[in-house]
Amino acid sequence: MAGFHNVMNPVLAIYPGSFDPVTNGHLDLIERAAKIFERLVVAVLRNTEKAPLFTLAERVEMLHEVTQAFSNVEVDTFDGLLVDYARRRQARVLLRGIRAVSDYEYELQMALLNRKLESGLETVFMLPAVSYSFVSSRLVREVARLGGPVSGLVPPAVEQRLRAKVTD
Ligand code: PNS
Repeated sequence: MAGFHNVMNPVLAIYPGSFDPVTNGHLDLIERAAKIFERLVVAVLRNTEKAPLFTLAERVEMLHEVTQAFSNVEVDTFDGLLVDYARRRQARVLLRGIRAVSDYEYELQMALLNRKLESGLETVFMLPAVSYSFVSSRLVREVARLGGPVSGLVPPAVEQRLRAKVTD
C-alpha cells in the first residue's frame, strides 16, 4: 500500500509551536505522540510577532531538559513557513493539540491552510489529558507573573525558571 508507514518508511512528525514555556499539557502530548510516530520533532518557531517571555535558547533548553527521556524525540527551531520546514525535514505529519472546542476553529484554519500549501502533509490532532485541558503557556506566564503557584501546570525545571524570570 503506497504511503503506508512501515519500518522502511518511518513517519516523522513535527510538533510546532512557541513553547513559551513548555507546559505539562505539551509534555503529555509529546509522550503520547512519541508512542505513535517513529520520530517526533518538537519545532520552536524562531521569529514570532509575539514578544516571548523566554528567549529562543531558553525555550529550546527547557524542551531538551523535559524530553531527554524520549529517545525518538528531537528539539529543533524553524523560521518562515511551517510547510517549508516540514518539506526540508521530509515530515509526513504536523501534530497539534486540541484542548477544547475553542481551540478547534483556529486549528482547523491552520490545518486547512497548511494542506492547501502542501497537500502531502497531514495535520494530526491529539488530545492532552483532561487534567491539562485548561493549561496554556499564556495563562501559566500570567499566573507566574502575578506571583501565583504554577506547580502541576509545568515541569519542575520550568517552574524554577519561571520563578527566576519573574523575580528578575
Ligand atoms: O504555539 P503556537 O503559538 O500556537 O504555534 C503556532 C505555530 C508556530 C504553529 C504557527 O504560528 C506557525 O506555524 N507559524 C509559522 C508560519 C506559518 O507557517 N504560518 C502559516 C500557518 S497556517
